[in-house]
Amino acid sequence: MSAAPGRVRRIALLTSGGDCSGLNAIIRAVVLRASQLGWEVTGVSYGTQGLLGEHTQTRRLRPEDVDTVMMRQSGTILGTTNKGDPFAYPMPDGSVKDRSWEIIENFRKTGCDSLIGIGGDGSLPILLRLTEQGGIPLICVPKTIDNDVPLTETAVGFDTAVEVATEALDRLQPTAASHNRIMVLEVMGRGAGHIALAAGIASGVDVILLPEIPYDIEIVANRLRSVQTPAHRFGIVVVSEAARPKGGTVRTQVMQDGQVRLGGVGAAVGAQIAELCQAETRVTVLGHVQRGGQPSAWDRLTAAAFGARAVDLLNAGQSGRMVTWSQRGVTDVLIADVIARGSHSVEMDDSLVRVARGLGICLGDQPA
Ligand code: F6P
Repeated sequence: MSAAPGRVRRIALLTSGGDCSGLNAIIRAVVLRASQLGWEVTGVSYGTQGLLGEHTQTRRLRPEDVDTVMMRQSGTILGTTNKGDPFAYPMPDGSVKDRSWEIIENFRKTGCDSLIGIGGDGSLPILLRLTEQGGIPLICVPKTIDNDVPLTETAVGFDTAVEVATEALDRLQPTAASHNRIMVLEVMGRGAGHIALAAGIASGVDVILLPEIPYDIEIVANRLRSVQTPAHRFGIVVVSEAARPKGGTVRTQVMQDGQVRLGGVGAAVGAQIAELCQAETRVTVLGHVQRGGQPSAWDRLTAAAFGARAVDLLNAGQSGRMVTWSQRGVTDVLIADVIARGSHSVEMDDSLVRVARGLGICLGDQPA
């Protein structure tokens, strides 16, 4: 889809899906770049939910609203949600309802003529379908700590999450060494092991367990036994939340509100290691800590570049595209192509998989 280039615009801007560090830096870049072109930006609160009901939640975002503090501030000033698909919206009576036209009609009432959506792989199909239905030009910006959005080398938020996980592993190492313990750290990532793989290598752990490589606990235990020497009587394991044993399934937890989330594999792996290695073992679940904290310089940089490019794409009359990072620069691809690829998980010939194996890190499937 393309739109008329060059005319004065009013852009609606929203963040959708789970938050991560760097969202505010994207928002700031969109507002500043739009203002350079003399355009207006309207922020929509809580993803598409801000356009539901009689009292929509929108506000004008001016350059004076987005000072440099936002480069350092995690979360999103617009709020976000990873619930409430507008095409199957959960109603209080337990039914689901298609509320897509309500959102489109409320979007029109804002006076905006295009949308920039900041989201991950869950939000992209919804935003594309919604905007195609409403004839609204759309540009998306990828964000997620999981780094599982295809066709981009990085999504905003991933780098900070890796920093947080690496720091956690670094902090576990001295206490593990002091007590001759095995430490297990469970990290996020949904179906993709990018955080575990990157942080595990960066911190120099003994074992990395990924969703993409089902593990054999005996191989894990053997590796941990083999690294025990008189000078080194501890072990560090990082496990991605969707890792599963060979022939087994992922572990999930039911939240207070009935939603199902990944979780529990760290405790399971820790208990098995304690028994098989006869070692004192402790488990840490890093959780949402990975989504907060000051964004890394890299996340801020890509956020700034992505936000500016998103506005430039609208200015060029483009629509239905997602900005991406590829070969040291910003470019863009069709959102439909991103969706068609599904999810970007760790591939077996990923260079970091080879690095890990080359350094003797056990990935749970074969002796290191
Ligand atoms: O997709 C981002 C993510 O943080 C995943 O890594 C994690 O599995 C999930 O969101 C957690 O979701 P919630 O914030 O709903 O608990």
